[in-house]
Amino acid sequence: MCYLLIMQKLKDSFGRTFPYIRLSITDVCNFKCGYCLPDGYQVDKSDNRKFLHLDEIKRLAKVFSKLGVSKIRLTGGEPTVRKDFFEIIKVLKKEARIEKVVVTTNGYNLDKKAKMLVDSGISGINISIDSLDSNIFRDITGHNRLPEILQGIKNLQELNFTNIKINAVLLKNINASEKDFNNWAEFIKKNEVDFRFIELMRTGDNLNYFNKYHISAKIFKNYLNKNNWIYQTFGKDAGPSLNYINPKYKGKFGIIAPYSKDFCKTCNRLRITSRGDLRLCLFGNTGINLRHLLQKDDQTKELQDLIMRQMKFKKESHYLELGETGLTKNLSTTGG
Ligand code: 5AD
Ligand code: SF4
Repeated sequence: MCYLLIMQKLKDSFGRTFPYIRLSITDVCNFKCGYCLPDGYQVDKSDNRKFLHLDEIKRLAKVFSKLGVSKIRLTGGEPTVRKDFFEIIKVLKKEARIEKVVVTTNGYNLDKKAKMLVDSGISGINISIDSLDSNIFRDITGHNRLPEILQGIKNLQELNFTNIKINAVLLKNINASEKDFNNWAEFIKKNEVDFRFIELMRTGDNLNYFNKYHISAKIFKNYLNKNNWIYQTFGKDAGPSLNYINPKYKGKFGIIAPYSKDFCKTCNRLRITSRGDLRLCLFGNTGINLRHLLQKDDQTKELQDLIMRQMKFKKESHYLELGETGLTKNLSTTGG
């Protein structure tokens, strides 16, 4: 007899599928970015719930793997501050059989970690660098660590690691001048790296900062058009970034503009917070906790059913433009 295994796939009411999960493994971060954690990470003493344990992460990833998820991005806070960070990558790849594990990092100690990252088998790395000017970098993040991050990128390249992306949050009067754009152009002329500007998003905590520094990414788009960058359309795994190429440059430019009209149309991701909340949208108000179903190996079916049932609650779009920020106080809990 022949059994046909029909794999249940994650799909919402608008026909979008979700092969990609962003998993925050800690809220802790060692930087103090003005738009995120201006006073640094504060321990909330009244909150004794811990971040997801390795075993819980393993069970979660196994179920998502069964539901067709082939890519998991580890985020934070700063994910590499976890002592078992490399253990987590191993479990995702070897036990949950996640094809692509990728990492978002602030680049802290990247020079020292580059080799271990490459050896861990990750498929890509996103590094946040808001400015190539070390003084501006220090002012934004509270840390004078740009040189070690740039050295880390060099180390990755020397190890032939190619899937490197750099993200910067676009900030009015800080890093959004023609000079800043030219500095990045110079950088990607020589480096095979995708550099993307992200529009500053308003969160529950950053209203004043947002009002002072938010600027539309149109300013960067105009710069790209003026300088003959060519808009490139990608396949379905492209995600939310608009990408631009130029044959004279090794790297690419990109724009992530969450306030743009069609931003949510290509949404292909779900988020899990460091304490096991499933977030259907970065800014949505929907956030069911999955943790009670991550305690034993025999809860798989129940967990799978709960996740599938949640999919119908995913909305078509966020309502950021109306000033709704959902549950998100700052992005350190959901990893951007
Ligand atoms: N708006 C836009 N990007 C943000 N990030 C953190 N907070 C915000 C915000 N309010 C970015 C970080 C990093 C990524 C994980 O998210 O700078 O690049
Ligand atoms: Fe840390 Fe990232 Fe927030 Fe900066 S944006 S404080 S690096 S979590």
